[in-house]
Amino acid sequence: MRIAVVGCGRMGRERALAVSAFGVDELVLYDPDADRASLLSRDVPLSRVVRREEDLDVGACDALFVCTPPFARGAVEIRAIERGVPLFVEKPIGLSTDHCAAVRDALERTPVLTSVGYMNRYRRSVVGARTALAAVPVVGFCGNWICGEYQVPWWSNPALSGGPLNEQMTHLVDLTRFLIGEVLQVQATGGGDGNRFDSASVTFTMTNGSSGTLFYSCRAVSKSIEFRAFTPTDTLRLIDWDLRWPDDPPATDRQQIFRDEVNAFLSAVTAGSPDPILCSYDDAFRTQAVVDAIGRALIHGGKEPVPAHRCCSHLVSG
Ligand SMILES: NC(=O)c1ccc[n+]([C@@H]2O[C@H](COP(=O)([O-])OP(=O)(O)OC[C@H]3O[C@@H](n4cnc5c(N)ncnc54)[C@H](O)[C@@H]3O)[C@@H](O)[C@H]2O)c1
Repeated sequence: MRIAVVGCGRMGRERALAVSAFGVDELVLYDPDADRASLLSRDVPLSRVVRREEDLDVGACDALFVCTPPFARGAVEIRAIERGVPLFVEKPIGLSTDHCAAVRDALERTPVLTSVGYMNRYRRSVVGARTALAAVPVVGFCGNWICGEYQVPWWSNPALSGGPLNEQMTHLVDLTRFLIGEVLQVQATGGGDGNRFDSASVTFTMTNGSSGTLFYSCRAVSKSIEFRAFTPTDTLRLIDWDLRWPDDPPATDRQQIFRDEVNAFLSAVTAGSPDPILCSYDDAFRTQAVVDAIGRALIHGGKEPVPAHRCCSHLVSG
């Protein structure tokens, strides 16, 4: 297999190392900052660097990993889709559903295997919780994701990142959709500096009749992450960055979850089947729609419906 990785920063490195561990014949690396790509290439056997984007022959690859910041999404994904190349895209899929609509339209015209890096879906604890919750009525849920700002240059500029909620709260929103179900409407209050919201309290009304609350903030210096789901007889709790069961020890290898996710995608590519993939582009598009609705609710302060985006069922997995 020949695999390309576009964007060779932190996540490009994670993905390239995971692809290399999976075992491929060649890895092609591209980043406009060519030094970054070269630095990564030194650590990845069988890799080579292309210095100009136009020299990246996407059509000659068996899969493409897009690990760029949210603002830089779109063109390379569409090039891959039009050539029938399977696509792995980092979360979030872009700045907004409007920003991602062209990729989604391209996928509707030319379906290819897709996977989006909502890696928490691959945790054994999360999959176990989803199975357990599917078997009982869910009374409600609550969750918190409290952390610091991500230290990369583009992150604090909402025009480049979509803002903290788009970048970080999206994990909690996606977890809610994966564990509880689809979101009908949201209400939200929050705080920020006028340029962006960096804290938000959000209430959710779900299509299955349950409801819940999530709190997000990037105003802290350490992380506090937890999700609780309430059933008629139990409280199911997942805690910390690795969303483990409270009785389990913390994950010792923080990279393993990225390897698991990459293995699932490359196994799907090898088999030509979406079965191992737990988050398709179409599925992530619906998470993006909820994040967008939270953003609108924060601005006008009322109830905000989540638009029921048409579902490309042939693109959905999990
Ligand atoms: N799943 C997770 O836990 C997790 C963790 C961190 C980041 N992420 C996501 O990964 C994405 C990238 O984040 P990062 O931490 O790797 O950022 P980063 O800044 O470390 O790396 C981004 C790289 O993309 C390059 N780039 C910018 N524009 C480009 C373009 N048009 N074409 C090709 N490359 C381009 C930059 O030069 C940089 O090297 C973000 O969407 C972020 O949310 C996910």
